[in-house]
This record gives sequence, structure tokens and C-alpha cells, in this order.
Amino acid sequence: MFSPKKKGDYPAVVTFNRPMGPGYYRLGLEFSGEAAQIFAGFMPGQFVEIDITTTAMPDPAKIPAHLEDAMTRQILLRRPFSICALHTEQGKSTIDIIYAAIGPATLRLTTCKPGDILQVMGPLGQGFWMPENKTTALMVAGGVGAPPMRHLATTLAQHGACPNLAVFTGARSLDNLPFEWQKSDDTVVLTELTDLPTPIEVHLATDDGSYGHHGLVTAPLLEWLARHDTPEENMILYACGPEPMLKAVAQIGVKHGIDSQVSMERRMACGINLCQGCAVELKPACACQQDNPENTLYKMCCQDGPVFEGKDVVFS
Ligand SMILES: Cc1cc2nc3c(=O)[nH]c(=O)nc-3n(C[C@H](O)[C@H](O)[C@H](O)COP(=O)(O)OP(=O)(O)OC[C@H]3O[C@@H](n4cnc5c(N)ncnc54)[C@H](O)[C@@H]3O)c2cc1C
Ligand code: FES
Repeated sequence: MFSPKKKGDYPAVVTFNRPMGPGYYRLGLEFSGEAAQIFAGFMPGQFVEIDITTTAMPDPAKIPAHLEDAMTRQILLRRPFSICALHTEQGKSTIDIIYAAIGPATLRLTTCKPGDILQVMGPLGQGFWMPENKTTALMVAGGVGAPPMRHLATTLAQHGACPNLAVFTGARSLDNLPFEWQKSDDTVVLTELTDLPTPIEVHLATDDGSYGHHGLVTAPLLEWLARHDTPEENMILYACGPEPMLKAVAQIGVKHGIDSQVSMERRMACGINLCQGCAVELKPACACQQDNPENTLYKMCCQDGPVFEGKDVVFS
């Protein structure tokens, strides 16, 4: 009888690869057979390592001037990506990835077309989890940290795991928002976060003020906390995005007595705990050792994370 493995390295068929806005693309990857069963268990916050080494570079005329040096750079290693959506049906699993074209590997990814095959390792790492007794999940996404938050929010909404859900998402500008969105009557709607069994409140922030709060995404989060009197032990903060944002969310959690989970980003050479190159510094588990800064410990982002409790991380 078939015994499902937890992870593996499988070929995936590209089902689509389309631009979403300046610099962002959405890619669909379909798995069949044993891989379909394994990828059906993909948890929000886990990631894949994709082999892009043999994928062609785009036409040099289409490469933005600031990325021209990427044309000369060889890529030897796979690249890590979160997923933003998982679809399962009889015998097939499809994962969607939203990626920013910022270097040699991700520029190559833009040339993939339906029917192409990519070798994909996953699901990798430890994703987000839902502790007991939480009634309110506040999910904070910054820039390309949005994809796993979209996956987490829709998973919680579909499974009824938590009755009160709110997403706070920040981007450089509305055009740079890595979510599917539509504008109607001057209101931006994140189309994939609507019509779900549990409604999701959405708060937007942009660096240039093109929509929503003009400034950091943590400002609407703090306003939300000031307006609600939900007991702190019933709330959970989730975050994925740039490290200063993760640090701010973790600090808000500590200050308000709210548990937080943050998805850390590190350069990952192997993704499977072999190279020891993706360390995250953590405070000692025992409170008795926390006064001495030398008592910190290191865990591997690819295997023990990328999701860690915010209160445990020693941010740089
Ligand atoms: C767990 C995890 C999940 C990720 N999920 C996504 C995702 O959903 N969508 C997405 O677009 N990207 C994601 N990334 C980042 C993605 O892996 C990099 O953008 C990609 O490897 C860049 O490869 P490149 O060859 O195109 O560019 P490179 O030349 O390798 O990088 C371009 C620039 O980005 C910086 N950079 C690259 N990777 C990282 C990193 N891991 N941490 C900090 N800085 C980095 C480099 O220092 C460089 O300045 C994720 C990374 C991790 C670790
Ligand atoms: S990326 Fe190699 S150990 Fe984590």
C-alpha cells in the first residue's frame, strides 16, 4: 500500500506564468501521482526549492537596466519560494507561487511557459501553526511576504479554525501589491480573500500613499489593537515580510502580551539542513538564561523554521 512521505523532489508541470504588476509574476505548478498526495499536505508558511538552473534567460532587451548584471551570473543552486495557494483534486495538486523578478534565477523563471517542467523539492520547513484558544488571528504581510499570508488567511477561513480574521498588508504602492485585487467605487478589494466561509477584514498600507494608510503597515495594526478589547490570550499575530517589519510585529506582540509567529528569510543554499548557512539566532528556551546575551542558540531557518515564535528571535 502507498505510504505517503512528508517531502520529496518531483517534476511539476507549469500551468501558467503571468505578470501581476510591475516586477511580480504568478506561476502555477501541477503535481500528479505520489507528488500530488505529498503536496496536498502543504502547510501555510512551508516552502519549496525550485531548480531553475537550466531555464533560459529572457531576451536581454526585456531585462530592466538595473538587473543587467544578472545576465552574466550563473546559478548553481535552487531557490526557495513560499506558496500562495494550494488546489487539490483527484490525482492532482497545484501550487501557486508569486515571485518578484529581482535576479538571475527569478528573471529566468519569467520565461517558463505552460507545459514546461520544473524540478521542485518540498514541502519544506515548519509552517505557521494555530495554538489552542485563539479566536482572533491578525496576519501582517509586507511586500513579497504576502504569498504565505494569503495561503494562511484562506486556509484559516476555509477550515473555520478561527472566527475573527484580519489581514494587514503593506506594499511600496498599490501597483506593487502582490495580491490579486480589483478596484470598485474607489475601494480596493483583495479578490481571493472575499466570499470565504469566514470573512476576512483587510487593511492596506502603502509607502507612497497610493492607497490605504500612508506609511508602515504596523500603524493600522496598532490602531486595530487600540479599537478592540479582545483578550490578548485569545489573539495571535502572524507575520511575513522584511525583517524590520517582523521585528516590529514581534515587539508589538511582546508589549501587548500577544503570541506572535514570524516567517524569517535567509539565503538558503540547500533548503534541507545540509549547508548550515541559514542560521537564525534565538533567545535561550529557559528564562533563567535569558539575562546573559551569550546564551543564545542557533536554529536552521530551512528546517526548524522559517516560522519561529516572534518573542524567541534575536533580530539584528
Ligand atoms: C523561505 C523563503 C520563502 C521565499 N518566498 C518567496 C516568495 O514567495 N516569492 C518571492 O518572490 N521570493 C521569495 N523568497 C525569496 C527568493 O528565494 C529570492 O528572491 C530568490 O532566491 C532570488 O533569486 P535570484 O537569483 O533571482 O536573485 P539573487 O541575485 O539571488 O537575489 C537578488 C537580491 O535579493 C536578495 N535576496 C535573495 N534571496 C534572499 C533571501 N532569502 N533573504 C534576503 N535577501 C535575499 C539578494 O541579497 C540580492 O540582493 C523566499 C525566500 C525564502 C528563504
Ligand atoms: S539552507 Fe542549508 S542548512 Fe538551511
